[in-house]
Amino acid sequence: MRGTLNASVVLFSLLRTFTVLASAQQPFQYGEMSAPQYTLPSLPYAYDALEPHISAQIMELHHSKHHQTYITNLNAALKTQAEAVHSSDITSQVSLQRAIKFNAGGHINHSLFWQNLAPASSSEAKSSAAPELLRQINSTWSDEDEFKEAFNAALLGIQGSGWGWLIKVEVGKEQRLAIVTTKDQDPVVGMGEVPIFGVDMWEHAYYLQYQNGKAAYVKNIWNVINWKTAEDRYLGSRADALSVLKASI
Ligand SMILES: [Fe+2]
Repeated sequence: MRGTLNASVVLFSLLRTFTVLASAQQPFQYGEMSAPQYTLPSLPYAYDALEPHISAQIMELHHSKHHQTYITNLNAALKTQAEAVHSSDITSQVSLQRAIKFNAGGHINHSLFWQNLAPASSSEAKSSAAPELLRQINSTWSDEDEFKEAFNAALLGIQGSGWGWLIKVEVGKEQRLAIVTTKDQDPVVGMGEVPIFGVDMWEHAYYLQYQNGKAAYVKNIWNVINWKTAEDRYLGSRADALSVLKASI
């Protein structure tokens, strides 16, 4: 009887081990349905709300055409990637990375950009809406004017297409502000970096209104920077700043 019992226990044990091993070897199901699909986030203001500094025509084309195209291309690339993962096609997965980076960057950057703009007549467009951020700006660049001068110089120094950003850099308990530029649609994705606000320096952001007057666009953009959003991002985390992306899935 004891021998029969022991044999049953051993058999049960083997079966259980086999079942665990078998389930561990099941391929991870990452099919077409699991690819996230992003949608165009609504603007928090009307297309003509930033006039005269940014025309309604620019805003409508920029948002409904340019930003939408990044999202359309990102969704297509993510779907193709999901299929490539599902079929263990590693070469396709590698070849898709550039398209994913470019179009995801376009979606990330523009989603942040719309939120860090506001109508010039609103209280959000006044730097007084960002008291804590302003304190840090003043201690880093002496005063607001010097900061703007440094930011403008960075924007006008971009060769080709790109973005200028004010970021908060967090290293341990230390944090500091920095002005950085990114090429093409590279997003600010470094560890510990929180985008405070960004300015789109692609020609599609200003050319219809300013033509080659890039300096005038850079000067006027300050009239429509949303300092309230900037303050919230400065006081918040990276996840807070990027929450708009989860909302657009
Ligand atoms: Fe853009």
